[in-house]
Amino acid sequence: MELQTSKRRSQILCLLVFGFLNLRRAECQFYPASRSLSYQSTNCRAYSVSLTDFGGIGDGVTSNTKAFAAAISNLSHYQHMGGGLLYVPPGRWVTGSFNLTSSLTIFLHRDAVILGSQNMNEWPLIDPLPSYGRGRDAPGGRYSSLIMGSNLTDVVITGDRGTIDGQGAMWWDKFRNDELKHTCGYLIEIMFSNLILISNLRLVNSPSWNVHPVYSSNVVVKGITILAPVTSTKTDGINPDSCTNVRIEDCYIVSGNDCIAIKSGWDKYGIDFGMPTKHVIIRRLTCISPDSATIALGSEMSGGIQDVRAEDITAINTQSAVRIKTAIGRGGFVKDIFAKGFTMHNMYYVFWMTGTYGQHADDHFDPNAIPIVHNINYRDMVAENVTIAGKLEGIEKGPFTGICISNVTMEMFESKKLPWNCTYIEGASTKVTPQPCSSLADQDPYASLCPYPADKLPIEYLELKECISYDV
Ligand SMILES: *[C@@H]1O[C@H](CO)[C@@H](O)[C@H](O)[C@H]1NC(C)=O
Ligand SMILES: *[C@@H]1O[C@H](CO)[C@@H](O)[C@H](O)[C@H]1NC(C)=O
Ligand SMILES: *[C@@H]1O[C@H](CO)[C@@H](O)[C@H](O)[C@H]1NC(C)=O
Ligand SMILES: *[C@@H]1O[C@H](CO)[C@@H](O)[C@H](O)[C@H]1NC(C)=O
Ligand SMILES: *[C@@H]1O[C@H](CO)[C@@H](O)[C@H](O)[C@H]1NC(C)=O
Ligand SMILES: *[C@@H]1O[C@H](CO)[C@@H](O)[C@H](O)[C@H]1NC(C)=O
Repeated sequence: MELQTSKRRSQILCLLVFGFLNLRRAECQFYPASRSLSYQSTNCRAYSVSLTDFGGIGDGVTSNTKAFAAAISNLSHYQHMGGGLLYVPPGRWVTGSFNLTSSLTIFLHRDAVILGSQNMNEWPLIDPLPSYGRGRDAPGGRYSSLIMGSNLTDVVITGDRGTIDGQGAMWWDKFRNDELKHTCGYLIEIMFSNLILISNLRLVNSPSWNVHPVYSSNVVVKGITILAPVTSTKTDGINPDSCTNVRIEDCYIVSGNDCIAIKSGWDKYGIDFGMPTKHVIIRRLTCISPDSATIALGSEMSGGIQDVRAEDITAINTQSAVRIKTAIGRGGFVKDIFAKGFTMHNMYYVFWMTGTYGQHADDHFDPNAIPIVHNINYRDMVAENVTIAGKLEGIEKGPFTGICISNVTMEMFESKKLPWNCTYIEGASTKVTPQPCSSLADQDPYASLCPYPADKLPIEYLELKECISYDV
């Protein structure tokens, strides 16, 4: 590293000199030519290596699992010395699962494609999540995610719009044909970690969920395009799960499942683990999801979901805008949810909430664990070509309360007799077309019954740094 360090210093010196003299880079001749790259990161990194330094071969065939592991193992030595950057150059880099380290930035060149291995042995089995008690889709263990991190501080996966392609078709087929004994891996899963940034990438064809931050805090997902066929199985976009302080912005998602799904554990496992998701902002999102929601809350919400704010959202050809999914046995809560500024085209439902969403971890769920759904506030939305304005279905033993809807105009596909169907819900509305059900009658003064927060969340203040790395 001596050599690298001195080389880096000389590069910096060189840049300073030509900066000062206002010369062009090519005229700075005394030092070896080297690539530099600029990137946004939580923190800039002092050391950088390329995947090719560790035997990486980007031919679209050779497995790079060992190269990724070796590069990251190398950078793990520098986590307390300014942190490391792993550069993924142009090429098609097949890999199985690998683990991240702290104070790490992975940067994908615009023409870099990380490809998920088609060899299932490259996705080793790991334990189920403690807040789920078992794999989500099958009892027992689950396949590793392609890119995994656990117990980390400060991890960044970014690039110049480079691509991570899960090559998920193999997994979707096996899932459909009931050939999988374990739950599919995700594209990116980071758990028990603090300070995570995932930005400026294209994520395509994930085997299952795309981005799964779990038991983590201070998470930013920004400038991500997620693409999966709308017929693919389980391909949720971004799923914050038992996380605090999350910011999702400027994303474009087309998927076979929910674009965003906020979660916090399943039935008694989630109740016992007791870790909510809270303080989440989602803004400037475009979602296409014909069979699922733009933003789903649940159905795994047993640790609780609180203080989620969504604004500037576009939904096209999507089954529902915000969907709350829960059931008796879940326990937990969904409360203080604020959504505004939605523009929607071709929606089946706009508002959908249900207290009868099945799918239990096992038969031992507690029939007295009634979820609480309270203080749900929707405003300033327009939707065209809507089939059902609102299906709001609470629980008899625990009605959903504080449901507030204001300034929402929905143009119906055909004048159905019943644009709304409300059971076991209580709330208020104002300036909503078509006119809501009587349990959401226009009430006065609406504003004092249904306050909307004016403050910002702590994660909105997190600023990213502009960084330059040399020698990559
Ligand atoms: C990390 O990799 C670089 C470049 O290959 C090498 O010079 C350095 O010695 C490695 N550091 C460690 C701690 O292995
Ligand atoms: C990644 O780390 C986890 C522990 O957090 C371990 O169970 C797993 O085997 C590791 N995966 C790989 C591919 O090394
Ligand atoms: C990660 O952190 C969790 C929670 O603090 C702890 O239970 C777990 O043992 C840690 N895992 C590792 C591999 O250190
Ligand atoms: C009502 O919502 C629209 C967007 O759908 C917004 O432009 C308008 O300002 C809102 N009106 C009020 C009074 O907030
Ligand atoms: C409106 O929605 C209906 C039902 O989903 C669909 O069949 C129709 O094509 C849509 N109309 C337009 C103009 O997109
Ligand atoms: C309204 O919703 C309830 C509860 O889901 C259902 O039983 C009922 O059939 C619905 N009514 C209509 C007219 O669709």
